[in-house]
Amino acid sequence: MTTPIIDFLHSYEKNISLRLHMPGHKGKFWIHPLAECHLMDITEVKGADSLYEAEGIIAESERNAAEVFSVKHTFYSAGGSTLGIQTMLSAVVGENGKIVAARNAHRAFVNTCALIDADVIWVTGENADVISSSVTPSDIEKALSEEKDVSAVYITSPDYYGRIADIKGISEVCKKYNVPLIVDNAHGSHLAFLDENQHPITLGADICCDSAHKTLPVLTGGAYIHTNSDEYASLIKEKQSLYGSSSPSYLILASLDCCNWTLSESGKKLMQMQSENMRKLKSRLSPAWSFIGDDVLHLTVEAYKAGLSGNDLAERLRENGIECEYSDEYYTTFLFSLMDDEEDYNALAEAMEKIIQPKILIRKDETPFILPEKAMSIRKATFSESEKVAVDDAEGRICAHNITHCPPCIPIVVAGEVIDKNSVNILKRYSISEINVVK
Ligand SMILES: Cc1ncc(COP(=O)(O)O)c(C=O)c1O
Repeated sequence: MTTPIIDFLHSYEKNISLRLHMPGHKGKFWIHPLAECHLMDITEVKGADSLYEAEGIIAESERNAAEVFSVKHTFYSAGGSTLGIQTMLSAVVGENGKIVAARNAHRAFVNTCALIDADVIWVTGENADVISSSVTPSDIEKALSEEKDVSAVYITSPDYYGRIADIKGISEVCKKYNVPLIVDNAHGSHLAFLDENQHPITLGADICCDSAHKTLPVLTGGAYIHTNSDEYASLIKEKQSLYGSSSPSYLILASLDCCNWTLSESGKKLMQMQSENMRKLKSRLSPAWSFIGDDVLHLTVEAYKAGLSGNDLAERLRENGIECEYSDEYYTTFLFSLMDDEEDYNALAEAMEKIIQPKILIRKDETPFILPEKAMSIRKATFSESEKVAVDDAEGRICAHNITHCPPCIPIVVAGEVIDKNSVNILKRYSISEINVVK
């Protein structure tokens, strides 16, 4: 597979000795840990193409990515899936639309709804949880049969714990109601490289974004938008330029370019290795530890069942030089990628085997998440005058801003909703002590 962006950067480095253009480091360095990066970090000079008007090396590299992912169109983002979500919603929904969405959405979704003034019909599914929800095709069917003029269905899968929704089933329901399906696949770029391709576009989604930087060897900020629809494809660049920087990082674009080569050479083989290593890790640790989630690269440990909080487990491992992706009161999530090898899996297993599990019963607060009442639109609340109050004093007030911890960046109360007793309890469970409310 060709790597047109990398090739251009190499020839540029060789042929141009005086850079009288941005970026200000000029490819030079004194004593600098990022020395090599400076050489390849350029701007839209002649021949370098331009992300939002791509017709040269970037367009060629994006076509390579589409081939690797077995989709019709792929577009790069140097602003992560956040820019992907802004772009997808603007292209598919536009202004004043109505979106049926699974509640465990990232704040980028809610913030974009404020920008495009979308109305959201939230679906929580059974055993609703803020971070992870098990929304099924029948939940979506119920919402679509009750609501008129729905512009799109929006699903986040895999979620932060690695739970995967039935995208195939949901896409069949969406087709029945003739409503486009948008998937936030930020955590699932690798799904295209499983023995049986489980990528959302292959399973029937109309458009999705993947944070390549989460599970593939790509620099932070590198992401894709994929679609098989020519209609949506024709809108992507224009909508991306509404939100994205006019100086997207060539280092990020180069790492996406390089990743095409890695994936085309050995994507499937690397994924098979991860699946096998994860299977061995789980069987080595069970039954002392239990897990939730379906995704191959996410390992979410139910730490509380072993008498530890998720945060305590994370801390014990940190003391052994192992840093997790996410932890909370009950769970600890480890995120693997195509770059991990057997030794990495073994190192986690060894460290976890050494942890003495206290024989304490930690009861999980099973209070179900109840959708708060909606008092005003997300847009109106987001742009209203607001004030910060203690969560204990917030009951009855209207949320103005989606206060969340990052990760996982999932709003507990969404702008425009009334903060009720249930929300206060959940906010406190996630150690959120203050919240912005409409004045
Ligand atoms: C589910 C989900 N969607 C979207 C995003 C935003 O992705 P990015 O950080 O690539 O902008 C994240 C980030 O963690 C996420 O977890």
